[in-house]
Amino acid sequence: MRIFVLTGAGVSAESGLGTFRDKDGVWTKYDLNEVATPEGFARNPALVRDFYNARRVNLAGAEPNAAHVALARLEAVLGDDLFLCTQNVDDLHEKAGSRRVIHMHGELAVTRCHHCQATRPDVAALTAEAVCEACGRAGGARPHVVWFGETPLYMDAIEDALAQADLFVSIGTSGSVYPAAGFVTEARAMGIATCEINLEPSANAYVFDEKLYGPASEVAPAWVEKILGEM
Ligand code: APR
Repeated sequence: MRIFVLTGAGVSAESGLGTFRDKDGVWTKYDLNEVATPEGFARNPALVRDFYNARRVNLAGAEPNAAHVALARLEAVLGDDLFLCTQNVDDLHEKAGSRRVIHMHGELAVTRCHHCQATRPDVAALTAEAVCEACGRAGGARPHVVWFGETPLYMDAIEDALAQADLFVSIGTSGSVYPAAGFVTEARAMGIATCEINLEPSANAYVFDEKLYGPASEVAPAWVEKILGEM
């Protein structure tokens, strides 16, 4: 059985990383236009760097929860028959043992040079003074995160994997941001079974065949057990 799993901020909520649109979510505290757009970075790069530096500090202290561990276990059994696509920029899937994680919105623990696009693993604070090792220019350090208005990563691989899936499962996402929010509709149109695992119904809950609600750290492991038990 080929399974396509899409995760969102809700899968990392119980690891202490804030979600975006819940009560007290990240976007209730920051204006995304100021900190998560190319225009915001051009206007005030220091504000953007401060925003992501604070998220890097949070990430350093975060541990994967039972949902991340369950998905790593599912990958250990399914191997290439599991396609794990995450909207999250955290590395908690990897910390839980997942080997193949598709970060369609990029990765917080990677720095990209705004001048030459070179990327490198990095958890240190982003600074204006940092000199890019690839192009030798300073002032370009940004997180390797896909901002609003930028193109998500790995979309060809994602669409291929979606078309080959027998089951599409969404875990911990509000279904607010496209193209990720449209994957369930694409899956349904291709006759692929769909399942939503979330704390509460998402914006596109009505599209899903199966809906399992509750904390991801409880519902996701139970769902993985069920899948493995049926194999
Ligand atoms: N268990 C399961 N689901 C949870 C939990 C939990 N413990 N806590 C919250 N959720 C659910 C919420 O009900 C909500 O539907 O997780 C979802 C989080 O939604 P968002 O905050 O909108 O996060 P996400 O869907 O990942 O956002 C998508 O938007 O801001 C951009 O690039 C950013 O990747 C992000 C994208």
